[in-house]
Amino acid sequence: MYKNECICTLFSASQIEMRLEELAAEINNDYMGKEILLVGTLKGAYIFMADLSRKLTSLVEIDFMKASSYGDSTRPSELKIEKMLSIDPAGKHVLLVEDIVDTGRTLLGLRDTIIEQNAASLRICTLLDKPSRREVELPACEYVGFTIPDEFVVGYGLDYAQRYRCLPYIGILSFEN
Ligand code: IMP
Ligand code: MG
Repeated sequence: MYKNECICTLFSASQIEMRLEELAAEINNDYMGKEILLVGTLKGAYIFMADLSRKLTSLVEIDFMKASSYGDSTRPSELKIEKMLSIDPAGKHVLLVEDIVDTGRTLLGLRDTIIEQNAASLRICTLLDKPSRREVELPACEYVGFTIPDEFVVGYGLDYAQRYRCLPYIGILSFEN
């Protein structure tokens, strides 16, 4: 652990594993007979995407996108897409795999970019959803692992200052004085 940081388990590795089985069963049912272009958002979704993709029965292609928001207190944050798709999504069934939907700004930007490229369909699968923090209007995500309260979480791909991504569980980060 780093300095005064403290992590309290929210979802254990086995709880995550069980929830992924359920999500994969839903996705397998919904996409039966269709190929999927899985698009993970870097970096946070890398572990979720790796574990979820190995539970899918459809043929899948894998790609990644990366976006960052830039902003300060004087203007609303702007989204910059740092990595575009390398596979053309035109005519494909795209499943966007997110680590967490917080304000919703990242998802909104990535969604619009994929739709503009003429995907046949686009659905969202997010490991975590923090609906109380939403700042933009978004259609509901089709697949949500866990809905969580307004806490900062780390582990299973999610970081704080690039730390803790490799924890096998998801925990709430707090700071002790
Ligand atoms: P957005 O606010 O919905 O655009 O989320 C932007 C990004 O912030 C997410 O993809 C995460 O990488 C990061 N993020 C938001 N909440 C948390 C958290 O609780 N822990 C770690 N990263 C977070
Ligand atoms: Mg992050």
